[in-house]
Amino acid sequence: MFEKLYLKEQDNVEKTIYNRLYEEHKSLLKKYDKLNRRTHLILRQGDREFLKRLKTSAKHKRSNKRMSMIIKHSDNQGTKTLSEKTSLELKLEEELIKEKELIKEIENTQKEVVYTMGAIGESRSKETGNHVKRVAEYSKLFAIYYGLCEEEAELLKQASPMHDIGKVGIADSILNKPAKLTYEEFEKMKEHSAIGYDMLKHSNRPLMKTASIVAHEHHEKFDGSGYPNGLKGYDIHIYARITAVADVFDALGSSRVYKEAWCDEDIFKLFKDERDKHFDPKLIDIFFENLEQFLNIRERFKDIN
Ligand SMILES: [Fe+2]
Ligand SMILES: [Fe+2]
Repeated sequence: MFEKLYLKEQDNVEKTIYNRLYEEHKSLLKKYDKLNRRTHLILRQGDREFLKRLKTSAKHKRSNKRMSMIIKHSDNQGTKTLSEKTSLELKLEEELIKEKELIKEIENTQKEVVYTMGAIGESRSKETGNHVKRVAEYSKLFAIYYGLCEEEAELLKQASPMHDIGKVGIADSILNKPAKLTYEEFEKMKEHSAIGYDMLKHSNRPLMKTASIVAHEHHEKFDGSGYPNGLKGYDIHIYARITAVADVFDALGSSRVYKEAWCDEDIFKLFKDERDKHFDPKLIDIFFENLEQFLNIRERFKDIN
């Protein structure tokens, strides 16, 4: 940030402080500020740092006080004087920017890890790569129209792709069986919601907590006929009610090993029939009221064969 800093001594001779790294400059200023009150001055030349003891007469003490306020900033545009406060403010600003960048980096990494985990779960049942993307986008749209705040909607967008992560614990012979599952096979298949929940439930991070709810409850049905716990109505968490509609809408419209893709007319009919049964009625209303936007997402993230 600074190429050079000058501290003005009481004899008005400017001493140059070279700062190769901003970090060095920061610690130097701190030391200077602290020691100056004890009539010491830190000077730096090249890589070397000097501690200079100043004269301690009353006059010098007064001038030392003034001196601590005079800091010059030199760059390509010339040299100008900054108050110590201004330079410290600039330092704080820079630290804040660095911190924000770091937080963004952590958040982005977290998003990628979560998204990849979701894709792993779906790949076990030969889902297309874009299925999780579409479910994420539909979920956010539902969340916004349902009245959740932007932050929660974004959280759900990131977590909903993990709904089937528990499928990593289900045998291939069941997941990819190109025929209807037997009763026993279906019972086994149903375990994926509990497996997913067990995988995610230990974290206290909001994103993982949200994902664990979604994994656990996305097969619960509004009328209480779903699994694993037969939860009913609004006892099913809103995150899971939303993910259920988003997931089924996308799954029906895509072809799988055991079925062809449904046409829109049939999907819409099922949604109307299942309003109040499988799905939260409010979400079905949101779906039809904003159909264009849901179809736009499907178009934007369609599978390329
Ligand atoms: Fe599932
Ligand atoms: Fe899915």
